[in-house]
Amino acid sequence: MSPTRRVSAAGPATPGPGSVVEVTEPADRVQRPPAEVRYADELARLREADTAARPPGWVLSVQAARRFVVGDSKLGISRKFVGDPSLIDRALITLATSRGLMLVGEPGTAKSLLSELLAAAVSGDSTLTIQGGAATTEDQIRYSWNYALLVADGPSPRSLVPAPLLRGMAEGRTVRFEEITRCPLEVQDCLLSPLSDRVLAIPELTGPEAMVFARDGFSIIATANTRDRGVNDMSSALKRRFNFETVFPIADLATELALVEAEAAALLRRSGVTAEPRRDVLEVLVTTFRELRTGETARGDSMDRLSAVMSTAEAVSVAHAVGLRGWFLRGEPGTAEDLVSCLAGTAAKDNPEDLAKLRRYLAQQVTWRGGEQWQALHNARHLLPG
Ligand SMILES: Nc1ncnc2c1ncn2[C@@H]1O[C@H](COP(=O)(O)OP(=O)(O)OP(=O)(O)O)[C@@H](O)[C@H]1O
Ligand SMILES: [Mg+2]
Repeated sequence: MSPTRRVSAAGPATPGPGSVVEVTEPADRVQRPPAEVRYADELARLREADTAARPPGWVLSVQAARRFVVGDSKLGISRKFVGDPSLIDRALITLATSRGLMLVGEPGTAKSLLSELLAAAVSGDSTLTIQGGAATTEDQIRYSWNYALLVADGPSPRSLVPAPLLRGMAEGRTVRFEEITRCPLEVQDCLLSPLSDRVLAIPELTGPEAMVFARDGFSIIATANTRDRGVNDMSSALKRRFNFETVFPIADLATELALVEAEAAALLRRSGVTAEPRRDVLEVLVTTFRELRTGETARGDSMDRLSAVMSTAEAVSVAHAVGLRGWFLRGEPGTAEDLVSCLAGTAAKDNPEDLAKLRRYLAQQVTWRGGEQWQALHNARHLLPG
């Protein structure tokens, strides 16, 4: 049995953090298990019902993998990615070819989530992941050595330490490469021969072990953000070996609001908050994010866009913070005042002009809408710092 922690306290009569009693929860909970663990039941159900042909090396057929990502109410499969289902079809077909899949788009549009879901659906494992950054080296992508064994035995399969690319090729699984364009160009280019010849050379070894040939099921999903460095920081030779798919922000307010509500409610439950987030507050939050992102209000006035990223992912995280403030500070759901306090940290990160734009928005673009929460948002504008 896993160790448990009993959360219990004498508290006020009204529901609130002090009154949470007799909640038994695992003390060693993983904060965010990988997709194949979070959705293990759904994957098992899909596998059981899956009679369609599978591409070689895949754990699910293309149709079942698609259902895993976009949902299927008849089989009780939840919709995990909100967007154009034809994007998922194209992505899955690319993974069945010998080309890599490159997901590009604005920050916070669920590129990483989508790559995780696709890897879980295709290989049953989303953990062969390389996180790209300025300091990423080829060793972290391909393989490195256990130096104690290397000194004792010389280069041998025993002293070889495989990194995600080598493992994905040898085991026939999907490899995820996050933020690939943040890596130096020459480091990215070590993907060229695995993608085109499906082989990785290990020149330090001799004999058959000096070449690792990719098994069926090996593929690469890379992500790149159009804000940070764009996809120009990639050699044209490597670009040619990828199919590019753009992931767009969610087009309409109602869909984005439903997603933010569902995600924020789930995050709040995991944080021990039993009060559901208020829909009227979330509506104000999502509308505010959309308007500050696009530079246009609901009645068509143009206004200043923020330079900070006001993505759906940021909206979910602010909705979570608003709920936490309401609950842990006062024992109630979060309000528009909490929203103003949380907005400052998101909207005005490194640019003082953004704070001025946000202040202007709260002063001029909020009251004409009517509604209690919009009025409260306007009244709370003094909570912005500075
Ligand atoms: N279309 C969408 N479908 C489902 N969730 C979405 C969608 N857009 C945004 N989200 C939210 O964003 C979160 C995922 O963001 P993720 O980190 O995958 O974005 P990203 O595009 O990789 O961002 P970045 O460019 O900053 O790395 C999800 O957990 C969900 O809350
Ligand atoms: Mg990402």
